[in-house]
Amino acid sequence: MSKRALITGITGQDGSYLAEHLISLGYQVWGLTRGQANPRKDRVSRLIPDLRFVDGDLMDQGSLVSAVDAVQPDEVYNLGAISFVPMSWQQPELVTEVNGTGVLRTLEAIRMVSGLNKPAARAGATGQIRFYQASSSEMFGKVAQTPQTETTSFHPRSPYGVVKTYGHYITRNYRESYGMYGVSGILFNHESPRRGAEFVTRKISLAVAQIKLGLQEKLSLGNLDAERDWGFAGDYVRAMHLMLQQDEPRDYVVGTGRMHTVRDVARVAFECVGLNWEDHVVIDPGLVRPAEVETLCADSGSARKELGWAPEVDFTGLIQMMVESDLGQAQLVHEYGSVLSGVRW
Ligand code: NAP
Ligand code: GDD
Repeated sequence: MSKRALITGITGQDGSYLAEHLISLGYQVWGLTRGQANPRKDRVSRLIPDLRFVDGDLMDQGSLVSAVDAVQPDEVYNLGAISFVPMSWQQPELVTEVNGTGVLRTLEAIRMVSGLNKPAARAGATGQIRFYQASSSEMFGKVAQTPQTETTSFHPRSPYGVVKTYGHYITRNYRESYGMYGVSGILFNHESPRRGAEFVTRKISLAVAQIKLGLQEKLSLGNLDAERDWGFAGDYVRAMHLMLQQDEPRDYVVGTGRMHTVRDVARVAFECVGLNWEDHVVIDPGLVRPAEVETLCADSGSARKELGWAPEVDFTGLIQMMVESDLGQAQLVHEYGSVLSGVRW
């Protein structure tokens, strides 16, 4: 019988790539969707026709118990979150509820449905539901060392980072308290043509396409000196799956080990269409964050050695892929005279 996976955050960037990957491996994949008419559900169901859906919300414990009970999954991937860091200064309580307490609620749902709340079941905990938590390199924040490993201490700089640190530790705690197979992937920034338009790489690739077609002149950015370890989302979902196939549950850092600045992203993206970034980028101090994460760089030695994982797309290839995708889309839209949406897939 094929394995069943339940994915929260199915309508997001990673949810779609993970679903495609798991379906290609023969899984029956269920996505948790919220709201009574979520337009992003239609979008992902058009993209992945084999996907099945179950209702639920990370804010609602009962809905999560019902979803886990209905699907009876072998693996649960908790990718659902408010993932745009600046929103966590604007609505810190909401972000705490979804990104923090939401992890706890998902763990509780698994614990209840799999009977791990009963001492007898706990003693011989086998055949249990495996759990993946989407932890983040934002937890490293003001970094204690470079590159960062699984043992680097955390110093989060945003409410988002603080709350992700809670999700990370509560997952570890359920592993230690109940013998649950629960792991966290500490993933560094990963992008794709499906990335939300609010994140810097996609903001740049969309603007480059518009500027190339003469539909826009300037692009406003914040801190150009921030350094990130950017990889391709399609590569990173393979690591998520591998983490749940190990004999022993443990957490892994996942990144490329290469650091670039926001300025590098702009330069490479504009070069893709034969333009000079300095002619178009303007600095908007309003986009600088209250507390910035200046540098992030992964040491994924454990993932490479123990999971056999390695990224296949490099930095330039990633930026080219995003610019080409947005340019193709912008050309189509320009030709047919409709409005370019930041969310194209
Ligand atoms: P994304 O594109 O922003 O997707 C977020 C998903 O969370 C959406 O499907 C959204 O669904 C869902 N969601 C939001 N609020 C919810 C709620 N109350 N209940 C259930 N679902 C809810 O994010 P992503 O880039 O795919 O990232 C996936 C996960 O990895 C996130 O947890 C993120 O924090 C983490 N992460 C991402 C990166 C990265 O670079 N991409 C790096 C490290 C960690 P709706 O359509 O209903 O809004
Ligand atoms: N979004 C954005 N917009 N960022 C800008 C801009 C701008 O106009 N100008 C400069 N930046 C800088 C930000 O200050 C930050 O240092 C860097 O670009 C990357 O910003 P984002 O693309 O918004 O990503 P992030 O690093 O804050 O967060 C992403 O990666 C985390 C993992 O490290 C998100 O995907 C998080 O959900 C994820 O956990």
